[in-house]
Amino acid sequence: MPNALIFGVTGYTGSTLARWLVERGWSVRGIGRSDTAAADLEDLGVEVEIADVAEPDELQRIGRANDHVFYLVGSVNGARAWIDRVCLDGVMAVEAALADTGIASFVLVQTLAPYGSGLPDIIREDTPERPNSHLGRVSLRAEAHLLEALRNRAFPARFVRAGTIYGPGRRTIRSMRDGRLRLIGGGSNTASRIHVSDLAQVLQAVAERGLDGEMYLAVDDLPVSLATYFDRLAERADVPAPGSTPRWLAQLIMRFFGVTSLVTRGHVPLSHDLYALVTANYACVNTKVRAELGVDLSYPTYLEGVESLLDADGLDA
Ligand SMILES: NC(=O)c1ccc[n+]([C@@H]2O[C@H](COP(=O)([O-])OP(=O)(O)OC[C@H]3O[C@@H](n4cnc5c(N)ncnc54)[C@H](OP(=O)(O)O)[C@@H]3O)[C@@H](O)[C@H]2O)c1
Repeated sequence: MPNALIFGVTGYTGSTLARWLVERGWSVRGIGRSDTAAADLEDLGVEVEIADVAEPDELQRIGRANDHVFYLVGSVNGARAWIDRVCLDGVMAVEAALADTGIASFVLVQTLAPYGSGLPDIIREDTPERPNSHLGRVSLRAEAHLLEALRNRAFPARFVRAGTIYGPGRRTIRSMRDGRLRLIGGGSNTASRIHVSDLAQVLQAVAERGLDGEMYLAVDDLPVSLATYFDRLAERADVPAPGSTPRWLAQLIMRFFGVTSLVTRGHVPLSHDLYALVTANYACVNTKVRAELGVDLSYPTYLEGVESLLDADGLDA
């Protein structure tokens, strides 16, 4: 039976991956912070330990030989110090803790932020990076650290850059119904998405059949504008489509909260990193995961994916 160790197991993707692997006969352990989410997972047979990835003392004796390790801790909307802590310090501390344990693979999951504001053309794994945010630059430093660990210590690192992760349980429809979700600049920019259960499938494939040092884009077949996606979701869920905030106003809000975040070091409603991600043009292709890893998506486009967000009452799933 294969073994998984999931950092961020109590999060949205981590808990979905845990369920996905348990259903396929894997033995799953994980690290998270939230006791309540941990209790739900323990009912499934997932062994959960509460630890902080950036605290080396809490990571001792955490890895076991032949573990497939998934790093799903991260933040797309935090103050700089928080991004550094979870996206870089944590990666380094976890790599150090696992270095001599004989793990089978280490899959680092990050965003598309290294591609900066995106491109008018298609983005592939070998598209040159042009980060325009702190998150993008920190993500590249985390990858560089693991590539060095691969070269010097044969650390089996593989990399996944995921499009916007969506699916049931994100409460997107509820946010639309409550008028809390707004697009920036009308949402005319293109985004690549991945349904959370397809992402779980990609992550299993990268662990089992991926190659050390390789990058894999986890996206569906059809990049579309944010407006197209949310219009479709609004129509199917029978809720109002999100309103739009002009870019200049979003930037003003961001600057204000950016200053606040320097003081509080906590999460901010709209950070520069999140602004950069949601206003970028990311039209990515998934040829590599399909051709090299044999991934067959259950939700190849947002049209199928949106249906999974509707429960029997047409309310938020
Ligand atoms: N959201 C997106 O659309 C998107 C797109 C592309 C890539 N990503 C990346 O993919 C990964 C998973 O995303 P997600 O949306 O599933 O994230 P999520 O729901 O926010 O989950 C993050 C997980 O990390 C844990 N965590 C946070 N700080 C920690 C710390 N210091 N020590 C230990 N655990 C810690 C959280 O624990 P608690 O919940 O217990 O606090 C949670 O289990 C992240 O790296 C994210 O940046 C996200």
